[in-house]
Amino acid sequence: MSLNPFTEVKDYPSMRTKLGLFTFFWFLGGILVLQNTIPGVARVLAMVPAKTKVVEVEFGVATVVIAFALAAVAYVAKLHDRVSDLFGIRARFDVNEILKPSALATGTPLSPSQIQKLRAKRLDLMGPVFYKFASSGKPIIDPHYITMALTQWSWYWVVIELNVVVGLVAIALLFASQFVWLSAALAWLVLSFLLLQPSEPTVPSTHFSRSNRLSPTRSALRRYPGFSVHYSVKGHIIKSENAAKPSMQASAYLCRWLSAQDPVRSAVDYGCGKLRYSGMLAAICRSLTLVDSSIQLDRSLLFDGTRTTVRAKAAATWPGCRVLSIEEFTISARRYDFILCANVLSAIPAAKARAIVLANTRSHLTLSGQALFVSQYRNSYFKEVIASGRAKVIDGGWLLHSARGWFYYGLLGPADLKRLIVRAGLVVKDCWSHDGSAYALCSGA
Ligand SMILES: C[S@@+](CC[C@H](N)C(=O)[O-])C[C@H]1O[C@@H](n2cnc3c(N)ncnc32)[C@H](O)[C@@H]1O
Repeated sequence: MSLNPFTEVKDYPSMRTKLGLFTFFWFLGGILVLQNTIPGVARVLAMVPAKTKVVEVEFGVATVVIAFALAAVAYVAKLHDRVSDLFGIRARFDVNEILKPSALATGTPLSPSQIQKLRAKRLDLMGPVFYKFASSGKPIIDPHYITMALTQWSWYWVVIELNVVVGLVAIALLFASQFVWLSAALAWLVLSFLLLQPSEPTVPSTHFSRSNRLSPTRSALRRYPGFSVHYSVKGHIIKSENAAKPSMQASAYLCRWLSAQDPVRSAVDYGCGKLRYSGMLAAICRSLTLVDSSIQLDRSLLFDGTRTTVRAKAAATWPGCRVLSIEEFTISARRYDFILCANVLSAIPAAKARAIVLANTRSHLTLSGQALFVSQYRNSYFKEVIASGRAKVIDGGWLLHSARGWFYYGLLGPADLKRLIVRAGLVVKDCWSHDGSAYALCSGA
């Protein structure tokens, strides 16, 4: 077991050793601060004049002994675990980062009551779903992933235990009316609280493939077809990203509808395609998130005559907007005030994939959040194609072959749209049609 705190952490005992070591130094630092700011503490410590060295630095023996004793208590009591229990840190992580994504990855949309059940049975479920494959003792997945995850997590707990020490020091400083140092301690606590918020994968800095280093289950998620936007129908591969249209072909009615909405804090363009409606959303929200497949986000497309990618175009047009792959969106815990899902359900010929889109929308809405589903089911082009006999009519839509491959057009009128949405547990607040498109405005509960 290495005492070097910077070596990789391969198992739980090594993680605890590392934590113990750091916590000892945190207490040492904390006592030094108190010694230098509170005369009473300095007087008591001076009663033992002997000195000793810790990593070549001289400390009073009393300081070192007290720091060691406190660190030992923290080690035995598993301080990080107690903090986790108090704030529900691990419970949230297990549910949001492991169990929920694993369920969604298998194509199981989760209702709120099922999510409640996941929470209640978290400890029972983590064994068969996660530890069976990713325990450091007998891993089934590549042990390298486990080492990387444990190393990252150990740094997280190191900071958590530092915060406990800073909190204790802050209380002592408060009683001693040492407000300058107290402010510094409080500033640190606030800063680290903000930094330790569950991070959302942001693009371009964390593509899914990079963030999967944190958790082995994330890489497993990539293998599931629930996140692919390529569908197989009657032996034909439908590349649904090819159905996306440019902003020049936006529906004037939908643009008007969007711009008439009250501003919201956060909005998502789910299945953003070629950003046809993203600008309208950007105009009514403070924080815009765009979601589509990695294929769609990273391929080269023409925007106003210039070749670029959706990611690059979005970053240049709406600085600060977040661009997430479907996987990143699915596993993120963030919720939004408004989600637009325009012409996505009708581009998906698979019931399960549609159900995942609906479940994902529902689980990412804030309590008062709303989602608008749009589906075009009638227009002159549809009529012309069907009349020409070129289209293969299939259940609920039709297939068309062109030079760019096979296309699928699902015909979801208002009644079909409403039925799908209600089945997914969303509440339809309004459903209407306009000029061949069906619209459904929903809330999560
Ligand atoms: C017809 S385009 C609509 C694009 C855009 N919303 C619009 O109205 O212009 C369908 C989009 O849905 C995306 N898509 C297909 N399957 C999806 C899924 N399961 N989850 C999220 N997006 C999906 C495709 O990549 C494509 O960009």
